[in-house]
Amino acid sequence: MSEILKTILETDSMARVNLAFIDNAHFEEVQIVKDLGKLITTYQDENIKNDATDQYEEQITVILITWLRHTIAHFSAENELMQQINFPTMRLHTQEHETELNRIKRIIRLWQTDKEITLLADFVFNFWPNWFKAHIRSMDMSMARFAIMNGYKA
Ligand SMILES: [Fe+2]
Ligand SMILES: [Fe+2]
Repeated sequence: MSEILKTILETDSMARVNLAFIDNAHFEEVQIVKDLGKLITTYQDENIKNDATDQYEEQITVILITWLRHTIAHFSAENELMQQINFPTMRLHTQEHETELNRIKRIIRLWQTDKEITLLADFVFNFWPNWFKAHIRSMDMSMARFAIMNGYKA
């Protein structure tokens, strides 16, 4: 199988929005996805051997659920903040959260039903890092800037 190009986000190089609870949520999420990425890579290597497969599948599922829960909490904290500060483009931002949440749920469903590791790996190493970086730089950044400018204190 040909090796896919992997994008692994590092907390050091991530854009900060300068609201601690949001930056922390972003860093935690990057860490969860990094751990997930490591498991996926090991699983893809070990897959041929077979005996450890069940164990890895179980671990991947557990971390996927952790990721989903974390994302739900992260997005709802941002949605709540936007409501509090009456953020003008809140609708667009919350919709983007909803769409992304559905993507994650779908990929987990596919993993749970078919153990679709290639699809999962592509999402974790390609789609998600690019989406996450772009989302922070655009929507999260402007939301946080607006909050700070309007005197919001966490
Ligand atoms: Fe965010
Ligand atoms: Fe966001």
